[in-house]
Amino acid sequence: MKLWFNLASPFARKVRIVALETGLADRIEEVSAMVSPVKPVEGLARENPLVKIPALTTDLGTLYDSAVICEYLDSLHGGTPLFPPPGKDRWQALRLQALGDGILEAAVLTRYETFIRPQPLRWNDWITGQFIKVRGGLDAMEKECGGWATRFGIGEITAACVLGYLDFRYPDEGWRKSRPGLERWYAKIVDRPSMKATQPQ
Ligand code: BEZ
Repeated sequence: MKLWFNLASPFARKVRIVALETGLADRIEEVSAMVSPVKPVEGLARENPLVKIPALTTDLGTLYDSAVICEYLDSLHGGTPLFPPPGKDRWQALRLQALGDGILEAAVLTRYETFIRPQPLRWNDWITGQFIKVRGGLDAMEKECGGWATRFGIGEITAACVLGYLDFRYPDEGWRKSRPGLERWYAKIVDRPSMKATQPQ
């Protein structure tokens, strides 16, 4: 399998953490792609018409996005599943993954707006709107993280990628300030080998 990724992408990080947590990393060749919303990478465009990372080339064809790839990888190993079987726990895990992915989308779009878009074209109200989603999503996570306990399934992995990405790109946001539960939870999982091996760069 071939994984198109980027060391800065929190969505690619999700996939790389899942590969490590499930013992599948050795079966994956990683291809680093410098993606840009305005300049498509040709090789990646041939694999994923959306020209986005992560994309995983497999015997079944190329899979995307991170949620699909993570669930595919989870189907390939015999250990504890990261996606629970059908039932209440599965809906909770998928919802938490969607919450984390939504926060990441808002944070990454803001990064593009503030870093790539030329200054005269920037729209401050739009940036403010995206950060309302980021902060609201984090507040929702703060309310529920007491129940995450020691599980490190797909929902918690996504939450870990959110917090890691905010530390990486938005250190001044200070997400810990009003969220002591998330701060405690993150301190416990941040030293996992899969987290350390995938630190954003
Ligand atoms: C970033 O540099 O923040 C980034 C890079 C690729 C995908 C998403 C985010």
